[in-house]
Amino acid sequence: MAAKQTRRIQKVTKAVFPVAGMGTRFLPATKSIPKEILTLVDRPLIQYAIDEARAAGIKEFIFVTSRGKSALEDYFDHSPELESTLRRAGKDALLEILRETNMDSGAIAYVRQNRPMGLGHAVWCARRLIGDEPFAVLLPDDVIAAEKPCLQQMVEAYAQTGGNIVAAMEVPLAKTASYGVLDVAQDMGSIVSVKGMVEKPKAGTEPSNLAVIGRYILSPKVMLNLDKLKPGAGGEIQLTDAIAQEAEIPGNVFGYRFRGQRYDCGSKAGFLQATVAFALSRPDLRDEFSTYLNDMVAMQKAAQ
Ligand code: G1P
Repeated sequence: MAAKQTRRIQKVTKAVFPVAGMGTRFLPATKSIPKEILTLVDRPLIQYAIDEARAAGIKEFIFVTSRGKSALEDYFDHSPELESTLRRAGKDALLEILRETNMDSGAIAYVRQNRPMGLGHAVWCARRLIGDEPFAVLLPDDVIAAEKPCLQQMVEAYAQTGGNIVAAMEVPLAKTASYGVLDVAQDMGSIVSVKGMVEKPKAGTEPSNLAVIGRYILSPKVMLNLDKLKPGAGGEIQLTDAIAQEAEIPGNVFGYRFRGQRYDCGSKAGFLQATVAFALSRPDLRDEFSTYLNDMVAMQKAAQ
């Protein structure tokens, strides 16, 4: 790693948000609403990912979308009628909340993935907008509550490592089959150097229990790898496989054990857990909601 510290590391200003998935786990809601618009308390999932990217210094936001996602595009646009109604009514606090959702013209770009061919393929769809720069990838399903936003932690780690860095978290061995899993070359604490990666390993073949969570900082070389990649796990083009090719070069791929609580909002249970946790962390809801939860648990216990 020491050799890497001397080389100039290019700033990461572009991020890719793969949002083309059909969200079948949330049907029937996702019949007409993109999954990324489902709300945790009062903010859509995608807003959490955008805020995290902004905090990490991202200036260009690239959404890989598909048919039926126009509500997402509208969400980031100005809403002149709503804004002028609120202004006339003197509702400044609400206006401020709305303003946080506006994106500058030209800061946001949409590319379409016209066939669902996997996460790697979705990221590859953004290749022309990424060009020859390092870039971040954020999977909005993975919501991470942290004092310092996860991607910001990773940008700081990347300033030391360069190369490629993926967010990582220990999971129970029985759960590794749901993730990309790291083959660790050297464990240095919060940073590990990686010599291989396996997407959704079969039980008993997992190289470790250190799983990839949906935050990545990648070199543009990964796009070139994706160009030539054959389908992997599940018959899909896997981002993990394109990064694994980079891991063949020692000291080129790192895992980063972030500080924070990750919620798998791609699953109903994870989404509900995040909803409860975020509601309890809100000063305007905390008291009422925790009283309700306590009463509910007490009632359930009494009924048993
Ligand atoms: C994707 C990635 C996987 C990663 C996971 C994290 O899988 O392919 O490597 O571990 O996100 O959430 P998915 O959840 O889309 O199946």
